Amino acid sequence: MTVTTDRNTRSPYLAGNYRPTHTELTCDLEVVAGSLPADLNGVFARNGANPRFEPKGRYHWFDGDGMIHAVEFANGTATYRNRYVRTAALAREEDAGECLWTGILEQPDFAQPGGPYKDTANTDLVFHAGQLLAVWWLGGEPHVVRLPDLETLGVQNYEGKRTRGLSAHPKLDMHTGELMWFDHKPFPPYLTYGVISPDGELVHQVDIDLPGPRLQHDLAITPNWSILLDMSMMFDPDALAHGKVRLGWFPEKVTRFGLIPRFGGNDDVRWFDAEAMFMYHTVNAWEEGDEVVLVGCRIDEPFTESVADPSRIVPAIASLRLAPLFHEWRFNLRTGRCTERQLDDALAEFPRMDNRALGRKTRYSYHQRCAEAPTLLFDGVIKYDYDNGCRAEAHTYPSGWFGGETVFAPRDGSTAEDDGYLVTFVADEATGTSEVFVLDAQRIADEPVCRLRVAQRVPTGYHTWWVDAASVGAQRPL
Ligand SMILES: [Fe+2]
Repeated sequence: MTVTTDRNTRSPYLAGNYRPTHTELTCDLEVVAGSLPADLNGVFARNGANPRFEPKGRYHWFDGDGMIHAVEFANGTATYRNRYVRTAALAREEDAGECLWTGILEQPDFAQPGGPYKDTANTDLVFHAGQLLAVWWLGGEPHVVRLPDLETLGVQNYEGKRTRGLSAHPKLDMHTGELMWFDHKPFPPYLTYGVISPDGELVHQVDIDLPGPRLQHDLAITPNWSILLDMSMMFDPDALAHGKVRLGWFPEKVTRFGLIPRFGGNDDVRWFDAEAMFMYHTVNAWEEGDEVVLVGCRIDEPFTESVADPSRIVPAIASLRLAPLFHEWRFNLRTGRCTERQLDDALAEFPRMDNRALGRKTRYSYHQRCAEAPTLLFDGVIKYDYDNGCRAEAHTYPSGWFGGETVFAPRDGSTAEDDGYLVTFVADEATGTSEVFVLDAQRIADEPVCRLRVAQRVPTGYHTWWVDAASVGAQRPL
């Protein structure tokens, strides 16, 4: 990866509302506008990077220790908590009283126990088989975090069957209860795919042949297929040959999508070629006759130095630019061809949808709109209606306020897609004043149904999950 941050310059992802917090707090939330809906019961949780100690070497936003911020909604009350994900690496650093690992902007230190990069469990959350799992983007140990108190119970090893890490963004099929997961590594096997059963048994695991190491951040599922990614931004093979780890952009290399039957093997994968691109996040996938449809947030030019676009400021994380556009791919299982099209021209990321319908045809998705800023800031949320020309409706946050990923939380008793709320943390960048916004998912342009003041600053983070009250009450111990 090309480094643009000087060793002595603090990352912009340690400044403003990216600045970490070290207070672990439990408090009731104060309603400052609207009123708490009585039919919103459960826990909204959000993971993110929050470096416990002064970083060692250059800091990248993806390096920080995992910290979960959560709001428990119960019978018209709302309680906020934030806690570190208590990983082994964090315990080791707390014993030492300092940061021990360098991050991804430095060359990997293979002498570190457990791997050259710190497994922070900082990236994503999924509630599966009665447990909330915190998972890491480089494929690490899934940590079980108890709700609502956010105590880290330990690592889920699936009765010793887990021999790989779990990357961020495993995909839960709520119709079957199965969790489809993957792991990716810079050394063979480069990609592993598998399935965990509804009751938490690791029932499927296969290594997938790839020509070299790849960076895959997400996958997608349909009832019959899982979709794996082999994209055009990847680890530079020349650098690897010289013992270096560096990302490169290879526009002459097609992006490939690998469709594997849910319980298929490496030989069952059907690869489809598409235009060169990189994508952090898929939105959803489904089946339509002979076609499998995938929608996601495509980035055409992922490196800052490869684009001179004076028309607008595009956010960047180190040398990677984030110019994600809502995009559709159609994989024809009969002809083996892929067709694709752009669905909108707004820059938006961290897409969410009604997870109850993940893998099935959906109409709506909610994407965080990128502000014109050098760092990643979301100044509003866009709701797309896939069935209606992707006509976009948006909620814009107050001037100077920026929000995080909006989870979709079904209202009690809801069964229809879209019947629920969007919940997210929003902060005033100038003062750090932080609130929880609750939007009506069917009228997102309206004023929030409720605004709740948090008694401390909630730093900007990553991914969210909603756990309904019944599931909170039916958690399983580790
Ligand atoms: Fe992600």
